[in-house]
Amino acid sequence: MKTFYITTAIDYANGSPHLGHAYEKVLTDVIARFQRLLGKEVYFLTGLDEHGQKVQQSARKAGVEPIEICDRLAGEFKSLCSDLRISNDDYIRTTESRHKAVVQTLLQRLHDKGDIYKAEYSGYYSVRQEQFVTEKEQVNGNWPEIFGEVIEVRESNYFFRLAKYQDWLVDSLKREEPRIFPNFRSRDVLEFLKEPLNDLCISRPKERLSWGIELPFDNDFVTYVWFDALVNYISAIGYGTDAFERHWPVDYHVIGKDILVPPHAVYWPIMLKACEIPLPKSLLVHGWWLKAGSKMSKSSGGAENPLDWIGLYGADAFRYFVIREMNVGQDSEFSSELFLRRYNDDLGNDLGNLVSRLLNMVHRYRDGKLTTPTVTEEPEAVLQALWQETVSAVVDDYKGFQFHKGLERTFNFIRAINRYAEQRAPWKLAKDQSTDGQALLDTCLTHMAEALRLAVTLLLPIMPDTSERVQALLGGGFGDDWPAQLQWTHAVVGKEIGAKTILFPRPEVPSA
Ligand code: MSP
Repeated sequence: MKTFYITTAIDYANGSPHLGHAYEKVLTDVIARFQRLLGKEVYFLTGLDEHGQKVQQSARKAGVEPIEICDRLAGEFKSLCSDLRISNDDYIRTTESRHKAVVQTLLQRLHDKGDIYKAEYSGYYSVRQEQFVTEKEQVNGNWPEIFGEVIEVRESNYFFRLAKYQDWLVDSLKREEPRIFPNFRSRDVLEFLKEPLNDLCISRPKERLSWGIELPFDNDFVTYVWFDALVNYISAIGYGTDAFERHWPVDYHVIGKDILVPPHAVYWPIMLKACEIPLPKSLLVHGWWLKAGSKMSKSSGGAENPLDWIGLYGADAFRYFVIREMNVGQDSEFSSELFLRRYNDDLGNDLGNLVSRLLNMVHRYRDGKLTTPTVTEEPEAVLQALWQETVSAVVDDYKGFQFHKGLERTFNFIRAINRYAEQRAPWKLAKDQSTDGQALLDTCLTHMAEALRLAVTLLLPIMPDTSERVQALLGGGFGDDWPAQLQWTHAVVGKEIGAKTILFPRPEVPSA
């Protein structure tokens, strides 16, 4: 059976991980976990993009080999994955031989069929930045200071015939092959394709860039950036072997909006078509995390690192925050105030207090055991009806990548459990020794516990640790059939309920 194959972009090995990288991994992980819960066999790939000018430059500056820089950053990115509980099945590095071999196979094939050709290229070259620049980058007819000396360079290079495939690509995209989510992004792509495409320069002479994969048909050159990086999606899953057929075509490439046009929506489909490989099914394009209105990344500075919040508040709090705040496809602003508000209000008060107060009461009043409820009056019926509404809406939200809405609904349900508790006031019922009072107390505690179990089950893709922890506190052993686990069955009855726990402690916030 074909797997559900999902990938993130592979991160550039030219700086430490930042919030943008973390978000993309969490988002992809949420989708991967959700699909697993729906019973799919998922294959989830992420990795590191290691070749190129910037890595070579940083290595020269530091007086080390480029691979040393890559090894260090691979360590940092992999730690980020484990800190964030990312459930990737593989981690591809573009310096691995399994990757290089596939890049060279494709290059050779395209060269053989005449889709790669050699031609002279002339352009402006910034000596200081060691890169080609275009006249568009001039300010009032002058090159900005950062470029240093700019010279005109003529050199031979290899080109990939993109233009030849332009009409085919437009037709294909109109047929939604691949499908682009959110839909408005496909309009951007078609707009871009209204202008004639230039063939793509895919090489650099080795004397200028040696840190790359050698062209198999001309060892004076290495291949440049996209032809190397994009191929990771098929090299990692064993292109050319049987394993490949189990995973390809990919179900979702999850990427940021900056790398949709042209790399993922133009270069990649054309590369695949030219190599006679089926196209990706879909591209899921997320927006940017912004700070003070600019894209947040290494180069935009930013003194405080949002990734520090993972260590301070835990992976789940971070995952909750980024998924709750970002409407997939749009941009979002990172703010410490908002993070703290979500942590204290949603996680600490609404969920955390519910857990600790419920466990406390079950032990105080019932010695840690819940019994089958005997009363169903309006408050119980209302809570159960709200659950039915919530669960189907949230599963639909998740299917449509509306995770922020799904979380909003789930937390509305959690607040409804708290309201139900206020209404029934079990602390008062505990003082009422009548049979009716005691029956109502049992009913109330079991309803609270069952509703809580259901709510955290719905949170599994987003907050896996918290969800499992609360399920364990409620006695655990609820099975692994997720849709079945989402049914209101009073599954908590008879379980050994754990002791009162503080799920989201208030950490000591470092002073500014
Ligand atoms: N190496 C290329 C991708 C090659 S994929 C075959 C690259 N690397 S990157 O490190 O610059 O970005 C990796 C991913 O992080 C991209 O999808 C990018 O959109 C995403 N983000 C980088 N900064 C971001 C934000 N500030 N916010 C959200 N995501 C952004 O591009």
